Amino acid sequence: MSRALPDTLRISWPAGASAPLPETDAALDRAAEQLRAGGLVAIPTETVYGLAANALDEEAVDGIFRAKRRPVGNPLIVHVADTGMARSLAGDWPEAAERIAVALWPGPVTVVVPKGPRVPGIVTAGGGTVALRCPDHPLARRLIEKAGVPLAAPSANRSEQVSPTTAHHVVEGLGDKVDLILDAGPCGRGIESTVIDCTVTPPRILRPGPLSRGELEAAVGGPVAWPEDASPAGGGLPVARSPGTGRRHYAPRTPLELPADSTARVAELLAAGERVGWLVAATVEPQLAGHRELVAVPMPADPAGYARLLYATLHALDQRQLDRIIVDMPPAEEPWRAVRDRLTRAATG
Ligand code: TXA
Ligand code: MG
Repeated sequence: MSRALPDTLRISWPAGASAPLPETDAALDRAAEQLRAGGLVAIPTETVYGLAANALDEEAVDGIFRAKRRPVGNPLIVHVADTGMARSLAGDWPEAAERIAVALWPGPVTVVVPKGPRVPGIVTAGGGTVALRCPDHPLARRLIEKAGVPLAAPSANRSEQVSPTTAHHVVEGLGDKVDLILDAGPCGRGIESTVIDCTVTPPRILRPGPLSRGELEAAVGGPVAWPEDASPAGGGLPVARSPGTGRRHYAPRTPLELPADSTARVAELLAAGERVGWLVAATVEPQLAGHRELVAVPMPADPAGYARLLYATLHALDQRQLDRIIVDMPPAEEPWRAVRDRLTRAATG
């Protein structure tokens, strides 16, 4: 299914204004209509751009899988306008999900809960749980309200490629596959939401993201497990896995490496005549800094700042016909966990 390039509509909600601009409301009305008619709309969220369809419309959701070439075994996140809409999609609403919703929604955290009967099986890959998230983006929530239905929305990229943090990235990756793109500028968080399984005790993080374990534990009022943590003794249920956290993911087209000594590796590659992109944590050695075949990008020293720029940097380097991308791996400390997770996956394969 290939189409002409879709319209990209700029939308904004000026700080301090009680409502979006009239043009923005008109754009959201048009997007809501497309969604109700079964179309695909690329939408901004605070994490990354999503490829949205009516979550209650099986055929529309099937369009998401086809556009992304996403394996049908990988379930989708359903975006809701508020906790009431979330509960209407859940078969059961665990205490942990309620506490997370109260403390951290709207926000970049997705709760996995038992699925209710309204959610078509295609959304959950046939499974008995559904992933729900209320995005911290007022225009995304206003769109969901206008559409009047929950929106299934994975990141708006081809499966296994780098997620989009601008509308331009969506045009480049999926431009001929969507009906409409809503452009609200660059995403503030820059990496995908934290996914937490609330069907187990203690709740378990399936995908690290912008919200830390500490923030989740404070919300839940108790411990939260990492994916690799042992299950409680005697726990009979198999641990839920997040199918989308397979090893290769989020990868740029240019091969990406995480060498222990990146200065030595970059020098070696340049000596061999390669063109190299380098995400640099510290300062670049003066003898490398001016090299014609080197594109060195200084990265922020804080995890949130780094996350915000990571995908945009990889998209930009992918445009430059480089032979290799080298990355200084950030420290093995908990605040860097989500960034390290994405870098490790980008380097696999
Ligand atoms: O920030 C985000 O979460 C973005 C924006 C657009 O909201 N969305 C996103 O969706 O990253 P996607 O499809 O690229 O990633 C969804 C993740 C996958 O790892 C998938 O396996 C997992 O959520 N997931 C979805 N439903 C699940 C379920 N029922 N149980 C376990 N994992 C689930
Ligand atoms: Mg994705």
